[in-house]
Amino acid sequence: MKAVILAGGTGTRLLPLTRLMNKHLLPVGKLPMICYSIEKLKEAGITDILIVTGRDAAGSFTSFLGSGRDYEVSLTYRVQEEAGGIAQALELARPFVAGDRKFLVLLGDNLFEEPLKPHLEAFERQPEGAMVLLKKVPDPERYGVPVFGENGAILRIDEKPSLPQTDSCVTGIYLFDNSVFTFIAGQTPSQRGELEITDVNNAYAAKGLLKHSLLSGWWTDAGTFESLYEASAKLMGTAP
Ligand code: G1P
Repeated sequence: MKAVILAGGTGTRLLPLTRLMNKHLLPVGKLPMICYSIEKLKEAGITDILIVTGRDAAGSFTSFLGSGRDYEVSLTYRVQEEAGGIAQALELARPFVAGDRKFLVLLGDNLFEEPLKPHLEAFERQPEGAMVLLKKVPDPERYGVPVFGENGAILRIDEKPSLPQTDSCVTGIYLFDNSVFTFIAGQTPSQRGELEITDVNNAYAAKGLLKHSLLSGWWTDAGTFESLYEASAKLMGTAP
């Protein structure tokens, strides 16, 4: 399976740190954040990886990671010209995964403990559709929040709801089949002018094609000062 790391965005919640440096290159423990995504994919046996990032940051990524040779992975890059949302960035992956039935998408600011392999295997067994990985969190209102039906399946995801219906959030670890590009093509920009990944997942859910799996180890997105600090503390001891 191939994977796509989405490493663009403006990182406004981390200003001024992100004024000069893309969020995914900021230090976490002893390494730039992007290294942990690559390591997690490698651990799951995925070595064919596309990195999507913004125009200003692309040079820093290629100069730091190169072809991926030093990390024993093969890296391909695509540039998202303007920040237009996660789903718009994902659309840029279409040629990279052409011919593959399924692939994994990782938001590069999602840092976590658990190996991805069991979830990949569960998704391989799923005949079609998408799978999201969920995590119980104390502050679900910061994230996409699943709403479950009586049979335990996800009915829909509410994006940053003021009154979350559950204490779980949708993490930025997504498994898609290649119909994702048809769903993205059917989306219109949200109120903030972006193509939202939650709308894409909701298109799968409306067809009963959105499955889920639970993350049990620690998970954090490192998009705020607090979560960046938390991730650093957790990962400090893990780098060589
Ligand atoms: C994005 C998604 C959200 C998800 C989160 C996970 O939010 O829109 O559904 O829960 O990533 O990190 P963002 O961090 O872009 O606000």
